[in-house]
Amino acid sequence: MRLRNKKWANPLIEKNPQIVIKNEQALSNKGEWGKVFQNNNDIYIEIGSGKGRFIIENAIKNPDKNFIGIEIQETAVGIILQNILALEIIPQNLKIIFGDGASIENYFVKNEINKIYLNHSDPWPKARHEKRRLTYRTFLESYKNVLPKEGQLEFKTDNRQLFDYSVESFRDFGMTWDESKISYDLHSEIEKNPANIMTEYEEKFSNKGQLEYWILAKMPKDK
Ligand SMILES: C[S@@+](CC[C@H](N)C(=O)[O-])C[C@H]1O[C@@H](n2cnc3c(N)ncnc32)[C@H](O)[C@@H]1O
Repeated sequence: MRLRNKKWANPLIEKNPQIVIKNEQALSNKGEWGKVFQNNNDIYIEIGSGKGRFIIENAIKNPDKNFIGIEIQETAVGIILQNILALEIIPQNLKIIFGDGASIENYFVKNEINKIYLNHSDPWPKARHEKRRLTYRTFLESYKNVLPKEGQLEFKTDNRQLFDYSVESFRDFGMTWDESKISYDLHSEIEKNPANIMTEYEEKFSNKGQLEYWILAKMPKDK
């Protein structure tokens, strides 16, 4: 998803450093995120938050956990911020990093994160772009380096090719999952993930009749 540049996004981001943490600041928060949130609650990350519906709703519904959305596009970060500022009560357990998911190991130390979400990640369908997919093995390696042993990675998409590729990539990496934690039609099997929170893309594509593919996988035990 490429959004058209919005001139207002940058000044709005600059005005709200308590919500949007820019790349350089995120790098210096490494190992110190408990201080940022002023508590030691679990931290859940979403890489590629788009317009922010998923991470905002998750934070509101789960005040006992901390949430960080990582988003690389300035305009998307601006839109997430607008959506947060429009709330009656700003959730104190939610931050947005204006940065790159590929830098996750530079933002967090091992065990600092409890769970990672990837929602409708860009598919990069061409074989020569495989390394850019957020489920490519080098990304899995970096997720492993911030998650605990058997830490959770939750992934959903309407793109069957990307889903099949990712499931294979998870398996090759030694990740595991329970059969009850994978679905090839999540919206018809919602009992598998009753707390499902819709993303913007999920709603848009399911309204067009696309199936939603979903998996909750664990990082390897021995890594
Ligand atoms: C297809 S959109 C999906 C948005 C949202 N997750 C949803 O499901 O509606 C993918 C988003 O991921 C962001 N993105 C892609 N690569 C990224 C990266 N390396 N780090 C952070 N964000 C990234 C894009 O800018 C875009 O906003």
